[in-house]
Amino acid sequence: MCVEGRMSRAFSLVKVASGAVSLRSLEHGETFHPVVGPMAEARALHVAGSRIVERVGKSAHPFVIWDVGLGAAANAVAVLEALADLSDPVRAELHSFDCTGEPLEFALHHADELGYLAKWHAAGSSLLASGRAVAGRVDWHFHRGDFREFLWAPRTAVPAPDAILYDPYSPESNRSMWTLEHFTRLHARLDPARPCTLTNYSRSTSVRVTLLLAGFHVGLGGATGEKDQTTVAATHRELLTQPLGAEWLGRVERSTRGAPLRESRSPGPISLGDLAALRAKLGGK
Ligand SMILES: C[S@@+](CC[C@H](N)C(=O)[O-])C[C@H]1O[C@@H](n2cnc3c(N)ncnc32)[C@H](O)[C@@H]1O
Repeated sequence: MCVEGRMSRAFSLVKVASGAVSLRSLEHGETFHPVVGPMAEARALHVAGSRIVERVGKSAHPFVIWDVGLGAAANAVAVLEALADLSDPVRAELHSFDCTGEPLEFALHHADELGYLAKWHAAGSSLLASGRAVAGRVDWHFHRGDFREFLWAPRTAVPAPDAILYDPYSPESNRSMWTLEHFTRLHARLDPARPCTLTNYSRSTSVRVTLLLAGFHVGLGGATGEKDQTTVAATHRELLTQPLGAEWLGRVERSTRGAPLRESRSPGPISLGDLAALRAKLGGK
């Protein structure tokens, strides 16, 4: 799943419904930003969903963003542009994770067709060459490797995040990045004193159950054009504008796939034990 060098010639450019151009992974059969295209999705889902602009302005420390699944850097560029537009000076670090630089290399090669990378070509090239770039006001780092292994390693110099843009392909094609075991490790890696959001495009009940049981609070995220709602998770409930509450448990109970995603079990209905744990977290009878 996460092997550098296997992906050569594994991408194509596709025109999505909005007319924007995006990358498609031939190995995963997934378009990076379907329907609305890279920038519209990245802005609506990640920049607006994690309220980065508002929170950066209030942060007493350099605001740290983890971009999990750098890919072709659309989410990263949406952050760079949102922060470049601010009138007040901001201090922010963007830490991008990916097992390979190949999608970004491919995207830089096709920067004219993709459009959004044109202004950030030098920064993207420097990021790939040296693992670091100064991009406008943002200190941008690239951590090449398997994100799951990064979480197993002893704490590194990478600071804990205030926001995580979570985009490592879907649970169907990359299950081990969406399991309860994985999200529990990710949650444990966060700093309890540093309120953090995690935005992603999924609206699936099982992904939301998994995040809740891993320790996150979970709420509805805004629409992206492709989907009428997405998901925002957070370490602190007050970061959520539409938190899921006890009334949502009925949907979990009725779902044929309400169980959390686990390494060793197939998706199915939620067990009584998991439902009790959810009730304890969300309230309800
Ligand atoms: C859909 S693409 C990300 C698109 C990207 N966010 C963008 O804005 O263009 C998913 C990316 O996640 C990366 N990925 C998948 N599993 C990973 C893992 N275990 N560790 C690190 N990166 C991973 C893939 O290599 C791929 O580049």
